Amino acid sequence: MSVQNLGAVTLLVLTCAGCGSWSGFGFDAGGPEMTRLRQVLALKEGMVLADVGAGKGQLTLALAREVGSGGRVFSTEIDPARLARLREAVGRAGLDNVTVVEAQSRETGLPPSCCDAIVLRRVYHHLTDPSSINASLLRSLRPGGVLVIIDLPPPFSWLRGSLGVPAKVVIDEIKASGFEMVQLISEWPGRGPLESYCAVFRRPLAGASIHQLVPSKGRACGSRAESEAHC
Ligand SMILES: C[S@@+](CC[C@H](N)C(=O)[O-])C[C@H]1O[C@@H](n2cnc3c(N)ncnc32)[C@H](O)[C@@H]1O
Repeated sequence: MSVQNLGAVTLLVLTCAGCGSWSGFGFDAGGPEMTRLRQVLALKEGMVLADVGAGKGQLTLALAREVGSGGRVFSTEIDPARLARLREAVGRAGLDNVTVVEAQSRETGLPPSCCDAIVLRRVYHHLTDPSSINASLLRSLRPGGVLVIIDLPPPFSWLRGSLGVPAKVVIDEIKASGFEMVQLISEWPGRGPLESYCAVFRRPLAGASIHQLVPSKGRACGSRAESEAHC
């Protein structure tokens, strides 16, 4: 394929990423992303997790198999048609450790302090009210629980919208909601040609001061040079 064609295909893919009915290439449970997720989530049997904005549900099913019958995965979706398909996919998989949850634009729908870890994969840039959702995520993690945001930079660094969101914007917003930053992984394996990053946060332990309510004036963690940086 010529460089021009490659550019055109890339542009088409990026454009389609904003289409209402397109939910990306999905999650490949057999690919390298699963290996990396096991590490950042410290996955083990018995954990309680949430997959927020589950789309077709591939990640939900993969996580449910990892945590086993003693664990649970809450799988949320805001789009009614996708929610119905998600319920069907979970039913077909025959897993009884998945709870499908109808999400709202300002509320995840997750129970309070339910989760050891929560994942949003390629969802954050779709959020219409991120500060309300971040507050809801904070309430639904146990103290010390982990929040993982996997997303993609937009084609123009200043842009935020249905094509992606800069890592720095995600980090600033989530820290301002009361989370502690743990790690930014700038090169995250994805499916398809879209480059991704993974930002890892933690709900502060009970009693810790929530100084993150004031956005940090320290160095930004969003630059590509800070691959694998702990911020
Ligand atoms: C690009 S898809 C990603 C799906 C899946 N996480 C994946 O990685 O394949 C984004 C999904 O987020 C859902 N979504 C958008 N805003 C949401 C919200 N506030 N709560 C839950 N789901 C949401 C959309 O309906 C869509 O299914």
